[in-house]
Amino acid sequence: MQYQLICVERQGAVGILRLNRPEVLNALSVALVAELGHAIRAFNQEDQIGALLLLGSEKAFAAGADIKDMQDKAFVDLFLSDFPHLAGDGWQALQQGRKPIIAAVAGFALGGGCELAMACDFILAAENAKFGQPEVNIGTLPGAGGTQRLTRAVGKAKAMEMCLTGRMMDAQEAERAGLVSRIVPLADLEAEALKVATKIAAQSRPVTLMIKEAVNQAFESSLADGLKLERRLFASSFALEDQKEGMRAFVEKRRPEFKHR
Ligand code: HXC
Repeated sequence: MQYQLICVERQGAVGILRLNRPEVLNALSVALVAELGHAIRAFNQEDQIGALLLLGSEKAFAAGADIKDMQDKAFVDLFLSDFPHLAGDGWQALQQGRKPIIAAVAGFALGGGCELAMACDFILAAENAKFGQPEVNIGTLPGAGGTQRLTRAVGKAKAMEMCLTGRMMDAQEAERAGLVSRIVPLADLEAEALKVATKIAAQSRPVTLMIKEAVNQAFESSLADGLKLERRLFASSFALEDQKEGMRAFVEKRRPEFKHR
């Protein structure tokens, strides 16, 4: 497929997706989200790819759903179509994709842009990153997970304040609150994100997929059920040659040569 609104490339075993609507700060149009979904699914099916990286520009990761696309929609349109911004293939591909995906956020990650970053497995932030759910300022509310994922990430007080007032969080506050894994100088963001994604892609593929599944389960189940899944997956990993190789390599003081990656 020829993409118009995103750029797609491969660096070793990392699939890189870059939002590419700079004139509107990467606002998420229906067409962009559809392209994103197609590309995420393709990378998830590609054997050589072990991790994905989602990038925006230096000024904006994404400034939200495209307001011009949305402004004249009627309730019935959104309800019947399950609005493609909210439940389109791009979002589903992100939620269903089993390979780890990192969001590298510089500049604005607002509304649907913040939600898109939060739907990834973790966020690396540049020093100039700004996160917010400003939908309240335009007469609506987050619609792609903002009230849910932000609350889980930063707790009720900050999520409530941000969603009710539209206040943005800078990178420092986002790191303190646990929204991002860490902050990187803007000039280093993409190289660092690629380094992290490359490291993940070099691990045993079945193990990284199990880890992603287990961590995500922490948001979906009771502690007892989550711990049970973790124990089952831990035991399962001992059926992998990669576990034998990893532990043998440690004992022999050498780097592991994982078979499945
Ligand atoms: C459409 C957008 C846009 C958006 C920016 N632009 N955000 N177009 N949808 N979400 C366009 C502007 O209209 C402008 O186009 C160009 O991008 C540059 O933006 P400026 O406003 O001139 O830039 P700046 O002054 O630097 O301000 C940056 C900003 C501001 C603070 C990020 O653009 C802003 O507040 N944007 C809207 C943020 C927002 O409300 N997001 C939530 C959307 S609702 P022109 O043609 O004038 O040059 C949402 C719901 C999610 O996301 C639902 C699920 C997906």
